[in-house]
Amino acid sequence: MELPSFRRHRRLRANAGIRGLIRETELQPSHLIYPLFIEAGLAGRKPIPAMPGQDRLGLDALAEEARVLKGLEIPAVLLFGLPESKDERGSQAWARDGVVQEATRRLKDADPELIVIGDVCLCEYTSHGHCGLLGPDGSVDNDASLPLLAETAISLAEAGCDIIAPSDMMDGRVAAIRIALDSIGRTETPILSYAAKFASAFYGPFREAADSAPAFGDRRGYQMDPANARMAVDEALTDIGEGADMVMVKPALPYLDVLRQVRDAVDVPLAAYNVSGEYSMLMAAAERGWIDGPRAIDEALTGIRRAGADMIITYHAKQWVEARR
Ligand code: PBG
Repeated sequence: MELPSFRRHRRLRANAGIRGLIRETELQPSHLIYPLFIEAGLAGRKPIPAMPGQDRLGLDALAEEARVLKGLEIPAVLLFGLPESKDERGSQAWARDGVVQEATRRLKDADPELIVIGDVCLCEYTSHGHCGLLGPDGSVDNDASLPLLAETAISLAEAGCDIIAPSDMMDGRVAAIRIALDSIGRTETPILSYAAKFASAFYGPFREAADSAPAFGDRRGYQMDPANARMAVDEALTDIGEGADMVMVKPALPYLDVLRQVRDAVDVPLAAYNVSGEYSMLMAAAERGWIDGPRAIDEALTGIRRAGADMIITYHAKQWVEARR
């Protein structure tokens, strides 16, 4: 008998049925987390120009949003707030009647099963737009910021957040937040740490959406250098050591190698944040007819899963589920 002289890989690509049987990576609505921007004092919804298809929501729009997400089987949201006022310390971040605290109560009232994730950071609440407290020299004072971040985590947990997600990149914040949550009896509230958060140009549209651009300087003194991958693993291990239950790599698409390296190095669940700039680039090209939007979205999200993410925070969540129906 004559042996075949080459492999025929196309045999397993002949039709949708066989492709489905051998597909290695699955993407389901249950993997998706949808970010929401909630603006104090806003009635209804207001489009975000730099993020076509995304809106800022008023508190009065949240019950309906929860209903829509349930219909789409999207299990979780990540909340960002635009407060009525800002100050040097970012005190609206931990105000008991702060916009995210109130939004959490309304979302949990509307759908107790919706997983509400509270983003812990000061940049949306400080007048200077940095993620922590400023020291006398104008740089962010790491240790002085920790109690404020811990206080923010407490207020979010008390408002009903199911998961606390610190995104500020201060050292020691996971430990500070774990101790704080335990001290109020919230021993069962998990922490999803933005462990490897890079100082990225891809956050541009978010800073318009959340009105959180730094008034001076940049975030390179606390967010990671985009050139470093080993350091991302080190960051993840540090946060897990401090008590993080899950870790995140952010952004996603320019950092798929980092996702893979962190995935291979740790055993806790891994999240990827498919950030605002990744979203807007794709939407802009699709709007111009340069790429097929729904297919590109599916491919991007599948790639992030294939790189090792368990869950994906993405502005595409609703579009992706709708397109697949
Ligand atoms: C707050 C925060 C940012 C993002 C999430 N949390 C902005 C930043 O660090 O400047 C960006 C998310 C996105 O671009 O979608 N620190």
